[in-house]
Amino acid sequence: MDFSGGTTALSHIRSALAHTPDISGSASDDADFQAHLDMHFAELCELFHSLYGGRADWLDQLTALIQQCAQSWRERPAGLKAMDAERAGNTGWFQSNTMLGGVCYVDRYAEDLAGVRARIPYFKELGLTYLHLMPLFLAPEPFSDGGYAVSSYRQVNPMLGTMEDLTVLAADLRANGISLVVDFIFNHTSNEHEWATKAAAGDPEFSDYYWMHPDRTMPDAFEKDVREIFPDDHPGSFVQQADGRWVWTTFHTYQWDLNYSNPDVFRAMAGEMLFLANQGVDILRMDAVAFIWKQLGTPSENLPQAHTLLRAFNKVCRLAAPSMLFKSEAIVHPDEVAKYIDPAECQISYNPLQMALIWDSLATRNVTLLSAALEQRHTIPDGTAWVNYVRSHDDIGWTFADEDAAEHGINGFEHRRFLNSFYVNRFPGSFARGVPFQDNPKTGDCRISGTTASLAGLEQDPVHAVSRILLAHSVIFSTGGIPLLYLGDEVGQLNDYQYALEDGHDADSRWVHRPHYPAAQYARREEPGTLESTIYAGLRRMIEVRAHTAEFAGTRLIDFHTGNPGVLAYQRPGDGTVVLMLANFTDFPQVLPAATFSGFMPAAVDLLSDEPWRLDGGLALAAHQYVWLRVRPQDGEQPRNDE
Ligand code: GLC
Ligand code: GLC
Repeated sequence: MDFSGGTTALSHIRSALAHTPDISGSASDDADFQAHLDMHFAELCELFHSLYGGRADWLDQLTALIQQCAQSWRERPAGLKAMDAERAGNTGWFQSNTMLGGVCYVDRYAEDLAGVRARIPYFKELGLTYLHLMPLFLAPEPFSDGGYAVSSYRQVNPMLGTMEDLTVLAADLRANGISLVVDFIFNHTSNEHEWATKAAAGDPEFSDYYWMHPDRTMPDAFEKDVREIFPDDHPGSFVQQADGRWVWTTFHTYQWDLNYSNPDVFRAMAGEMLFLANQGVDILRMDAVAFIWKQLGTPSENLPQAHTLLRAFNKVCRLAAPSMLFKSEAIVHPDEVAKYIDPAECQISYNPLQMALIWDSLATRNVTLLSAALEQRHTIPDGTAWVNYVRSHDDIGWTFADEDAAEHGINGFEHRRFLNSFYVNRFPGSFARGVPFQDNPKTGDCRISGTTASLAGLEQDPVHAVSRILLAHSVIFSTGGIPLLYLGDEVGQLNDYQYALEDGHDADSRWVHRPHYPAAQYARREEPGTLESTIYAGLRRMIEVRAHTAEFAGTRLIDFHTGNPGVLAYQRPGDGTVVLMLANFTDFPQVLPAATFSGFMPAAVDLLSDEPWRLDGGLALAAHQYVWLRVRPQDGEQPRNDE
């Protein structure tokens, strides 16, 4: 592709900007914007051209996009511009070991946005620096997929408050050192979004915002290669509308996939994105990134253009909301997850592999797959970070790679069947109380719903469950990245078996693990001797130690083999020291011989208990015990793998 055209495009755009009187802002705004443009235009132009260059109007489209960015920059509040400047001088802010995330539904956790504000003191007590509020936009009732069907990106669901409340909350959170994360649900809108209602009424401009087809010809052709995501909801990827047309709906019938092959859609969504940025959102959780580009003859998942789109959206931020970051939600094969993680694409990403393999290790009492994942799949580019979590608002899918499992003699398909039966308590001896999600008899695929406490066995074996809950969290707190708590888990909240009684929830078992605020359990977090206080105190201790331990910044991790398949181990290197993590996933004590630690000086300290440990006599770990040992390599040795 010849990009001498880029320079011509830029001068065309500069003159368009200069001749748009309502866009040229204050002299300093303009100068800033021109500087952003100088830095980012060439790449944006190339990305945009690669998506839309086949169209005669591509340059006009790009010009309109840049005009929109200029306008949005001009409107960006001064406080946010100040934050942009501050973060430009501290680009690694989100990689700090003090970062801690929490996620909740506004209504279920705190009634409304004012209620969330009232919980800021608790968030500070816990140590949060990142708050993900589940989708809070206008959405259809009662079926909205928990808000993931958006009817307007510019309107807050009236039950939760107003856009002004959100802006105020964002500012309050920021003043308290907490970044606001909201979803950017950009793969689809609800069928009640204005664009969708216009499309449904036959408006050709808006019909082109979606994938609408007059008959089954195209749907049949696409469906040859596309997998079903919500087979309980509808077979295939298309649903028929009243007028006979078929519209693409990857998820529920009321979530219509947007058509990004149309540049109008890109521009419209860039506008919605910048609007949210200017309300004070720090991080956008880019929902369902794998699905955003469709192409006939492909599975329409993880296509190269999905990456191009994300890069182009990223450039739009660099022009008009420079400090905003993207978090990738790609719950797919680990090779594909990794491809979205890039400073130019998504700077942070869920770590679904680690999440799934923590549960695998708890079920099997064997850390082989988790340990291999840390060794082979934990490293991500500089300037990026994982979001490590034990569970989310979604189901748990067993997204490990079959090829990884095969290397350890494990058959992926059979192993997933075992994990599914274990976590729904159909396997003899299982401690877990999960519920199946999207059980698909056609493919044998199934996923798991359940809160952390219920999956860890709190209903049937409280003592061990508490130690399993802490053990699971010890991994997300120490491997590197932002640990993300599902709020309520820190006080051991159980499944909500009444979920089906709530309007619109009965067909979706994920509601079993999205309970309402557990006030009584939160109250007991301060009462010594309760399960809640044991869990809470254990987590708080890890949070505190992590925040004061420099080795935990960033994601750098070095593997370490204990030779014991029940004991997980890895090192976080620092300046002359190393923190060596050991975690016993079995239900019995495990002894590690002195030779295991021969690369280290004998004196160590467990950061969690502040107790001195000696490594020259080997060491014993109680069932489910984890230790964070600060050790020193033997003279002259670099932190190393002992095998
Ligand atoms: C994401 C969300 C999930 C939702 C889906 C459709 O995967 O996490 O809850 O159902 O996208 O928006
Ligand atoms: C996500 C994932 C899928 C998940 C669903 C939400 O995008 O691909 O595994 O179950 O959407 O639940």
